Formats: sequence, C-alpha cells, structure tokens
Amino acid sequence: MTNYTNYTVSIHYDRRLYRHDIAGSIAHARMLGNQGIISEEDAGLIVDGLGKVRQEIQEDKFPWDETLEDLHMNIESRLHALIGPAAGRLHTGRSRNDQVALDMRLYTKDVLKETVQGLRATQGSLLALATRHQTVIMPGYTHMQRAQPVLFAHHLLAYFQMFQRDIDRFRDCYRRTDVLPLGSGALAGVAYPSDRDFLAQELGFREISANSMDAVSDRDFLLDYLAAAAICMMHFSRLSEEIIIWSSREFGFIRLSDEFTTGSSIMPQKRNPDFAELARGKTGRVYGDLMGLLTVMKGLPMTYNRDLQEDKEGFFDAVDTLLATFQVYPDMLQGLTLDEGRVASLAGESFMLATDVADYLVNKGMPFREAYGVVKELCRHCETQGKDLQDLTMEEYHRFSDSFDQDVYNINAESSAAARDNPGGTAPNRVAEELSRAKELLESTANDL
Ligand code: ARG
Repeated sequence: MTNYTNYTVSIHYDRRLYRHDIAGSIAHARMLGNQGIISEEDAGLIVDGLGKVRQEIQEDKFPWDETLEDLHMNIESRLHALIGPAAGRLHTGRSRNDQVALDMRLYTKDVLKETVQGLRATQGSLLALATRHQTVIMPGYTHMQRAQPVLFAHHLLAYFQMFQRDIDRFRDCYRRTDVLPLGSGALAGVAYPSDRDFLAQELGFREISANSMDAVSDRDFLLDYLAAAAICMMHFSRLSEEIIIWSSREFGFIRLSDEFTTGSSIMPQKRNPDFAELARGKTGRVYGDLMGLLTVMKGLPMTYNRDLQEDKEGFFDAVDTLLATFQVYPDMLQGLTLDEGRVASLAGESFMLATDVADYLVNKGMPFREAYGVVKELCRHCETQGKDLQDLTMEEYHRFSDSFDQDVYNINAESSAAARDNPGGTAPNRVAEELSRAKELLESTANDL
C-alpha cells in the first residue's frame, strides 16, 4: 500500500527546532499553572517531563516516529509516555499554529545572533588584512579597466561598509522577529485567561503580537532574514569574484593559503580558488530560498494553511549556507598574501595618472574640460610613440600646453592617492581615519545582538 503520509511528514527537518519547541512548552506549562488553568502539580510534572525529553534528544536516545508527522506531535507523545495523562493538559489554550510560529521566531532570533557574529568576524579579518597592508597602493578599476590608484585598504574597507549594512538589516529583522505569537491559538485567540506578558518575559520577547490571525500566518520575519541573506551573499559573491580574479596568474595580486585552494587531478600547477567559487555559487541557492518562500506566501488567504510548513527547508538551507560561509571566510581572508610589489608597480603605471595630469593643469588655472582634452591628446601621443607619460620630454609636454612645468614629473601613484584627501577618499590619512573608525565600531558593538 502506498504510504501517503510521507507527503505531510516534516519531522526530518523540523526536529532542529526541538530546543525552541521545548522552551516554548515549558513557559506555556508554567503559565497554565500560574493562572490556575491547570494544577500546579500537573504543570510541575509537565516541566520535568519536558526536561527529560530534551535530554533524550540531546543524547540521541529519543524515539523519533515518522508516523507522528512533526516535531510537536513527537514531543507531546513522548511526554505522554513519560508522565502519563498530565501530558494531555499541555496543549490547553494553544494550537500547533501558534506553537510553530513561536518555534520559528525563537529559532530565528538565535540564528540572527550567530549571523551578526559571523559578519563581525568577517569584518574583523578585513580590518586585519587592511592594517597589514595599510599603505599599499593598487590599481582601482572601473569597467574592469585600470582607472586610478587606490589604497588596497580602501578597497577592503568598501566591503566593510557592505557588511555593516548587512548587519543593520539583520538587526532590523531581529526587531520584527522579537514578537511573541503564543496565545493566538489556532487563529482567533484562546478561551482561557492566558498570561501572554508572562510568556513574553519567560521567553525573552520584547512585545506580544497584536492580532491573532496575523500572528499565526505571518512569515515576514523569515522573508526579512532571507532578503537580508540574499543581499549578504551577493556581497560575499562579489568579494569572491575579486579573490578569484586577483589570484589568477594574469592578475597575480594575491595568493590564497593552501587550505583554501585545491589542485587539479590532472594539472599539477593548479591552485584553484574553490572556496571563493563555492561562496559565489552558493549565492544562487540563497536567492532561490528567498524566491521559494515569497512564492509560497503569495496566494495564502488568512490564516494558517499547511503551505506554511514549506517555510522551513529553504529557510534552514539559507541559514546553513550563510553560517558555513562565515566559518570559511574570516580565515580565508586572514590567510591570503598580497603581492605588494606587483600591485604597487601596476598602480604606478602612467595612464592611470591621466586624471592627475588633468587635475595638475586645472591647478595651473585651466578649465577642467580643456585640461581633459589636452591630456587626451597627450595620451594619444604616448600611445603612438610607445612612451609613458613620465618619459615625455618637457619639449613634448609643451607641444600640448604651455602650462606644463618641471613639477609634472612629480605625479605618481602616491601623489595621486594623497590628492584624494576628501571625506570618503583614498588618501592615506583618510583611509587611516576610516580604518580606526571601523575598528572602534567593531569593538563598541561587539556585544550588541
Ligand atoms: N508542521 C506544521 C508546520 O510546520 C505545524 C503546524 C501544523 N498545524 C496544522 N494545523 N496542521 O506548519
């Protein structure tokens, strides 16, 4: 006979919520006892029994039963086996609908703390790497074309900013997750004098939900997490892309440590940046997880519908992917070596200083548009002559403008970077300021959420 119940079973994935489910049930039992909804004695039996269930699960001795479908039924049934009929009183004034909403919120709050910590660890590694090479100048790119010299540290601090915005998004998500749904019942509230403020306090929620129908059917907090996770992975994917390019022989900017490269089975010279490639690739699945849940939600009428059970696997997948990425990235960043000589020599390449030559003419009084035209001609001349800007004689410079003086030869990568001395610019003193601001931020917020 076909086993149709396989279709509805969720125990193989919702069992990861067991700690949160039991914590919720313990708080609920205490509340029922305090309020005289069940006897103090039964409440005590239930609380002790749930402690035993938790221990069994932790010790891998719990008899999971697929025919009981989900985590909630497994735990309730086991509780019955352990303490007898008192177990039947636990589900008074509660439904699996507000129960599972509670579990997901408790779980998400825990995961958010880990997520933010993982982002901070990544930021810490970025700052350590930036500090190690604080004054190194590299080519900065637009359109993947060498554009202007920038500090390597400035480039890394761009990612610090992205991850800081991610942290803001996750903290914002925490605020909206931090709402207790328990006490909403199946959809309409409960017909007992349930003390929801006590429950919120016991379980560490900032507030209680205002509408029972919304509370049992709302999964916005999961979507908030998934949306923030998708953006966060996009940032990791961009950084991965740079690491992959930088570690190619063509660029030769960095070398990844051995743990974060793999060889090829047939090409002995290969050092493949697999970890960075996988982070880039895994970004796709997190986008998919977001799209999956958005699509699950879009047609649901009020209130609970079983479709909502489909919130879990994609969400857990996104969480696992993010947390795994945080396991890898901080160490991978710490372990990479920058070829300072190579990036510095490319940064001094003369065509990247063309803007500086135009700025030089502006400082001598020429309108910028005119200066731009002069330098464009100058570059063309260099190209036809096969010369760098620095190799031109004064006589050649004067063919293009009288404003050129001997000091045009002082233009180099260092002068170029130092000139960008405005807030947010790449001048070494600005970058040093940003670096210490970033370090202070990381230290002062280390214990926030
Ligand atoms: N396993 C279910 C879920 O994850 C629990 C809630 C079931 N509620 C119900 N009315 N069948 O959504």
